[in-house]
Amino acid sequence: MMPVARTSRTFAFASAAMLAVSACTSDRAPTIIVSGASGQLGGLVVEELLARGVEHADLILVSRTPEELERYAEMGASARFGDFTEPESLRAAYEGGDKLLIISLNTRGNPNPRVAAERVALQRTAIEAAVAAGVQHIVYTSFVDAENNTSPIAVDHRATEADLRESGVAWTSLRNQWYADRIIGEATQMVATGRVLVHPNDPGTAFVTREDCAAAAAAVLTTTGHENRVYEITGPELVRTRDVAALAAEITGVDIEVVDATPDEIASLPEIPPSGTVLSTAVADLTGRPGTTARQLLEASRDALMAARGR
Ligand SMILES: NC(=O)c1ccc[n+]([C@@H]2O[C@H](COP(=O)([O-])OP(=O)(O)OC[C@H]3O[C@@H](n4cnc5c(N)ncnc54)[C@H](OP(=O)(O)O)[C@@H]3O)[C@@H](O)[C@H]2O)c1
Repeated sequence: MMPVARTSRTFAFASAAMLAVSACTSDRAPTIIVSGASGQLGGLVVEELLARGVEHADLILVSRTPEELERYAEMGASARFGDFTEPESLRAAYEGGDKLLIISLNTRGNPNPRVAAERVALQRTAIEAAVAAGVQHIVYTSFVDAENNTSPIAVDHRATEADLRESGVAWTSLRNQWYADRIIGEATQMVATGRVLVHPNDPGTAFVTREDCAAAAAAVLTTTGHENRVYEITGPELVRTRDVAALAAEITGVDIEVVDATPDEIASLPEIPPSGTVLSTAVADLTGRPGTTARQLLEASRDALMAARGR
C-alpha cells in the first residue's frame, strides 16, 4: 500500500530550471497535479482523468485532507498534504508535477477565515510554489466572463488570471459558469409549493454541471494546444426559471403556477446573474460530448423531485 504523505516542511530545494528541463526532455506522460482533490469538483476531475486513461502513477493529488485520497494512493497515485495558507507545504506538494490544476479556493463554508480575506494572495502563493517546483502549465478554475463580469465574485478570479499571465509559465483559464445544482434546488421547491414567482425579463442562464466542468478540465490537462487560452465553460442552453418550472411540472406531473413578479416583488427574487447569458460550446469542443441540458439534469433528479410532492 502506498503511504499517504503529509509532506515534509523542510523539503530540500531543487532548481526549478533543472526540473523544467528534465520534464521537457523526456517523452513520458506528463505528471498531473490536482489541487483540492478532495473537493467536489476536484474529486470529479480525478475520476475524469482516470477515465481518460491517465495512470495513477502519473497523478499527484493534493489536499488539506490527503487521507481522504487513500483509495487512489493504494493504486499508485501520490496523495500529498497541501494548504494554500501553509505556503511551506506547497513546494513539496507540487514537486515532480508537469501540469497543475488549481481549484479556486472556496470562500463560502471554508473553516479558515483567511481564505475569504486573502484569496488572491493565497492563490498567488500557490502559483509561485508551482513555478518554483518546475510546473510548466497551470490550469485554473475561474469564473464566467471574468474580464467583464460585474459580479463581486469575479474580482478575485480576474486578479488570479492576471497573476497567471505574469507567472512565466503556460496557463489556461477555465471560466466556469454557475453550477447547475441550483436548478435542482429550484425545481424541488417548485414541486413542493406548486408555485413560482419569476422575473418577467429573465433572459436565462447557461448553468453548467460540475461533471461537465470536470470533464472539460480533464480534457485540457490531457491534451495539447490549450496554452495561454481562456475557455468559457457554460451549459449548452440558456435556462430561465420558467423553463425549470415547465420541466419540473412535466417530469413530476405536478401543476406549477408561474407568476410574473410585480416591480415591487422583483427585489425579493434572486438577482439575475451578470454574464449569465454567456453561452459557449467549449464543453462539447473540449470533451467531444454535448453539455448536460436542464432536462437531462432534472430527469436524473426525478426521484428527489417526486419526493418533494406535497411536502
Ligand atoms: N461556479 C459556481 O457556481 C461555483 C459555486 C461555488 C464555488 N465555486 C468555486 O469553485 C470551486 C470548486 O467548487 P466545489 O464545488 O468543488 O467546492 P468545494 O467542494 O467546496 O471545494 C472547495 C475546494 O477548495 C479547496 N480548498 C479550500 N481551502 C483550501 C486551502 N486552504 N488550501 C488549498 N485548497 C483549499 C478544497 O480542497 P481540499 O478540501 O481537497 O483541501 C476544495 O477543492 C470552489 O472552491 C469555488 O472557488 C464555483
